[in-house]
Amino acid sequence: MSIWTDRHVTVVVSGGIASYKALTVIRLLMHEGAQVRVALTAHATEFITPLTFQTLTQQPVVTDEFTMTDPEHVVHVALADWTDVMLIVPATANLIAKMATGLADDAATTTILATTAPKYVVPAMNSHMFANPATTRNLGQLVSDGMTVLDPATGMLAEGYVGHGRLPEPPEIVAWLTSQLLAHETGLPLHGQRVLVTAGGTREMLDPVRYISNRSSGKMGYAIARVAREMGAKVTLISAQTALPRPEGITYIQVTTAAEMLSEVEQAFPTTDMLIMAAAVSDYRPAEMAAQKIKKQPNDHGLTLQLTETTDILKKLAGQKQAQFVIGFAAETQQLLSNATHKLTAKNLDLLVANDVSAPGVGFNGDTNQVTLLSQHHAAVTTELLSKEAIAQIVLETAIAQGAVGKA
Ligand code: CTP
Repeated sequence: MSIWTDRHVTVVVSGGIASYKALTVIRLLMHEGAQVRVALTAHATEFITPLTFQTLTQQPVVTDEFTMTDPEHVVHVALADWTDVMLIVPATANLIAKMATGLADDAATTTILATTAPKYVVPAMNSHMFANPATTRNLGQLVSDGMTVLDPATGMLAEGYVGHGRLPEPPEIVAWLTSQLLAHETGLPLHGQRVLVTAGGTREMLDPVRYISNRSSGKMGYAIARVAREMGAKVTLISAQTALPRPEGITYIQVTTAAEMLSEVEQAFPTTDMLIMAAAVSDYRPAEMAAQKIKKQPNDHGLTLQLTETTDILKKLAGQKQAQFVIGFAAETQQLLSNATHKLTAKNLDLLVANDVSAPGVGFNGDTNQVTLLSQHHAAVTTELLSKEAIAQIVLETAIAQGAVGKA
């Protein structure tokens, strides 16, 4: 499998005589298995039509014109979120200057500013423009902002003389990009690991308009998904309804009920290295969902609901684990340690993240959490009250320290 397989690559093309070479770069990346989408600056559309890129990629191309004709969709932000890797080729002096100052005055620069994916910049311009102190200063700024810049080639320029500023040949650009990406990813602690995360509170429908649910916001699970991705994992997030934006760079599956979540987790589990059940799954669902809205009862005995237990997803999957590392959560309001220790063994878990959801700032809904990490062969560790991102980092690092990576 190539490092490019199913990788979401956004290629931003700015306008110059070398713009046409972006087509070959895209073709080579697609040949490697990447999914490529394109954003064009207005100048780029003067050199090559959006239709050429659209035909090649079989995907809509983001241009200013397209953004204006589709005001309902923030297309460039959607593209930014979709992106795993951003390649800016060719990057003109003008675009580099805009990027260096964080300008977002068109669809292409907005996409660049809005993505959190790693960015790779391939400048191409006249040699005097490249040597200009302003360009040198701007490129230096891009590097200190964390972008990676390819040095242009020396050769015949469009102006008819030899100089340093030519776009390297497409195969060279792709080889450079591949080695940069490998270096970026293989150094990461969860490189190559397939991590399955669940998040949010499931909803169990009573009738077409009512449901039973809980106060889970999904923030803890989403933080784990994001941090696992940043640590190099291939992440699948199975999410019940939340108000959170979908994290980028991951496979996202939306579910509503515990039964739907079970079915998706079961399907993904055999090809998973680490399962993290951060979802607040309903323990019970209505025995029957009423086909019509339940009417107010014409007596004063109230309304009794008949509930049926749902499948404990975590327990079921942990019971089937081969080499998977399985992490569960325990939300407790009393006797945290004894209840959590019982769950750890009863559910056959590798790691349990327990929190006292009755404590201030802990658990449901907030942006902070404090947890106790329990495992069979290691002493329990209680964290401070920290951001959910920081807790996610600690959970994943603890899993790695306890042998989660390399079990398979
Ligand atoms: N869980 C699950 N399927 C369920 C219920 C819970 O997979 N039907 C998972 C949760 O995602 C969590 C863990 O089990 O990782 C513990 O959930 P929690 O509600 O704390 O515990 P329960 O086992 O449901 O026990 P209780 O509600 O009695 O405390």
